[in-house]
Amino acid sequence: MQRIVNAKTVKYSGQRIMVCGWVQTIRAHGKILFIDLRDQTGILQAVITPSIPNPEGIRKRKNSCYKLAQKLKPEWVVKFEGIIKQRPIGMQNPCIETGGVELAVENLKVLSKAKILPIPVFEIGKKEPTLEKRMNWRWLDLRKPEKQLIFRVWTVMEQTFGEYWISHGYIQIHSPKLMSVPSESGAEVFEVKYFDRKAYLSQSPQFYKQMAMAAGFEKVFEIGPVFRAEPSFTSRHATEFAGYDVEISFIESHQDVIQAEEEALVYVLTKIKQEFGKDIEKFYGRKIVIPKIPFPQLTMKEAKEILSKLKVKNKNNGDLSPEEEKKLSEFVRKREGHEFVFVTEYPIEVRPFYHMRLETNPKLTKSFDLLWNDLEITTGAQREHRYEILVRQAKEKGLKLESIKYYLNFFKYGCPPHGGFGLGPERMLMKIFNIRNIREITYLYRGVKRLRP
Ligand code: 4AD
Ligand code: MG
Repeated sequence: MQRIVNAKTVKYSGQRIMVCGWVQTIRAHGKILFIDLRDQTGILQAVITPSIPNPEGIRKRKNSCYKLAQKLKPEWVVKFEGIIKQRPIGMQNPCIETGGVELAVENLKVLSKAKILPIPVFEIGKKEPTLEKRMNWRWLDLRKPEKQLIFRVWTVMEQTFGEYWISHGYIQIHSPKLMSVPSESGAEVFEVKYFDRKAYLSQSPQFYKQMAMAAGFEKVFEIGPVFRAEPSFTSRHATEFAGYDVEISFIESHQDVIQAEEEALVYVLTKIKQEFGKDIEKFYGRKIVIPKIPFPQLTMKEAKEILSKLKVKNKNNGDLSPEEEKKLSEFVRKREGHEFVFVTEYPIEVRPFYHMRLETNPKLTKSFDLLWNDLEITTGAQREHRYEILVRQAKEKGLKLESIKYYLNFFKYGCPPHGGFGLGPERMLMKIFNIRNIREITYLYRGVKRLRP
């Protein structure tokens, strides 16, 4: 018999079907057992009685699975066969999708037993165990439907970004994650043994997505892992995370990159809202707002002026502290009714050598960060594609040219003006769900102190 998933069972009223899943709760009313069976699609109420009616008549026969059913425990994995029946009016459960029906179980198989759980899976009204504890038992924590929702949204988010970029002529690349030189800066890089020499784990596809511009690809995107040896313990940094990277040729300035990002974001958020808006609101109380294009923009100078008026402490003239990001986002939300803000024109001191500088002020870069409700989700820029200037900028930053020789060569044989951005999907999901900690979003978080499970 073919398995029917819980959510689809409503279509099988009166029919004999097979379902599989986890025993979530067991209630006994007299001799009748009520079991909430959970699978990936939802909950189905299963009813197990000591006897069942004969197909031909009124006489009842013994239910052969009843004895085994009495032994069931929470989180056992089971297979049930039985008849889908309409629940009597008044006994229906409007809170679940399958609340109008139930399964009268006539056959049962235990597929896997469960020992006493170290953390609860089903805990209505109770406070969850600490995050650390839940991370130790991540596969149990992830059984909760509201946690699985994050990964369902992630799946569609990634598919929709891909769909958007592919339909707009982008080529997808997969650049190597093993590098002979660090891809961003030397400080936050993981070193690995590579046969008789050292290699580094890629901190960004930056150099290789730019190579695609020199290769004439014109527009590329990459979805892949990013490694950063960040010694930080913040709620928004992981040492391994997913990166969405984009690079576009023949741009006039970083404004073209900003526009490309805005359009992609609106497209993706619209789809997420359509498909998951109700569930996200139900489980997380977060209403998705589709942002209006153009998103608000502030230059770093303007941002600092606003922050100074708001009396927020300024730690670094060229960059924003988490506190400043928060206050600035709040300000923009109030003034413009917008959850996003692009901060542009970062000074050269806080930006890498490859960022192009403003013609009108060479101390500033044609770069931007995108903040979504207090959090940086993107960094982007127009890149310097002119070999001599790029070399000069690298020297100014104190880089050894020998070590970036291969990168610099990309710009020697004809490379169009180009720019792009890197977006952190974990950060984006934090904002979609209004979840404060990246550990809750990441399938398996990696940090200074965490390498398992
Ligand atoms: O801001 P980042 O470091 O920028 C780059 O990697 C550039 N190469 C991008 C470019 O095209 N100019 O990283 C890009 C994004 C950040 O905005 C953030 O969303 C995310 O990646 N990110 C992290 N996410 C989780 N944990 C970390 N440690 C992260 N570091 C950056
Ligand atoms: Mg950044």
